[in-house]
Amino acid sequence: MGENELPRHIAVIMDGNGRWAKKRLLPRAAGHRAGMNRMIGLAEHIFDRGVKYCTLFALSTENLSRPREELNGLYALFREYFPNNARTLAQKSICLRVIGDRTLLPADIVALIEDGERTTAGGERGTLQLAIGYGGRQDILNAVNEAVRLGKTLTQEEFSALLSTSGIPDPDLLIRTGKELRISNFLLWQAAYAELYFTDVLFPDFSDRELDKAIEAYSRRERRFGKV
Ligand code: IPE
Ligand code: IPE
Ligand code: MG
Repeated sequence: MGENELPRHIAVIMDGNGRWAKKRLLPRAAGHRAGMNRMIGLAEHIFDRGVKYCTLFALSTENLSRPREELNGLYALFREYFPNNARTLAQKSICLRVIGDRTLLPADIVALIEDGERTTAGGERGTLQLAIGYGGRQDILNAVNEAVRLGKTLTQEEFSALLSTSGIPDPDLLIRTGKELRISNFLLWQAAYAELYFTDVLFPDFSDRELDKAIEAYSRRERRFGKV
C-alpha cells in the first residue's frame, strides 16, 4: 500500500451495460442482467476487502425518462433479484440503505426496498447504499428547501445531515466504469474531495481484479484537501 489507507467509502457509477450487450449483439436488457449479476459480486468483494461503506449508482433521476420498455425490464430484474439479495446482505450483516426519490418508483418496488431496509437494519459489518431514482442536484435542493423551512443558517455538517446520505461519511474513492468522463448528477456535494477513477471497462466486465486496481491507484494518490 502507498500513501493512503484503504478507502472508507467507495462509490461506483455502474455504467456501460447497454454497450456491453450491443458488443455481443444482445438486447440492452441482457446487459442489465449481466450488470445486476456483477453488482452483487462487486459489493461482496468491496466489503470483503474491509471497506465499510459502498454506494452504487443503479438508476439516476434522469434515467427514469428512458423508454418504458427498458424501465420495465429494470424493474422486473429488481423484483427478481432484490429479495434474495436483501436476505444475503442480512446474513452477512451488511446494512442496506436506498437513496433516491421513491415517489418516482412503482409502489411494489418501494415496498421491496422498505422490506430490504427493515431486514438488514442493524447490520454492523458495513453499509451498502443503493442509489435508485437518485439525483445529486435533487438531493441538494431537498436539503436547501428543508433548511429554508427551518429558517436556519447552516454549517456544512448541518447541511450534510439534511442530505439523503446523512450519517454516511463522504466517499473517498469514486469509480466510474464504461468510459465516460463525467459525474452524471451523482453525489455532487458528497464527492467534493473524492479521488476520481475512470475506466473504459464496461460495468459487467468490472471484475474483482479491476476493483483492486482502482483501490491500488487510490492508495498512491496524494490527498491534499487544498493544503500544501
Ligand atoms: C448503466 O448502463 C445502467 C443504468 C443507467 C441503468 P447504461 O444502461 O447507461 O449502459 P450504456 O451507457 O448505454 O452502455
Ligand atoms: C449514469 O449513467 C447513471 C448510472 C450509471 C446509474 P448514464 O448512462 O445515465 O449517464 P450519461 O447519460 O452517459 O451521462
Ligand atoms: Mg450509460
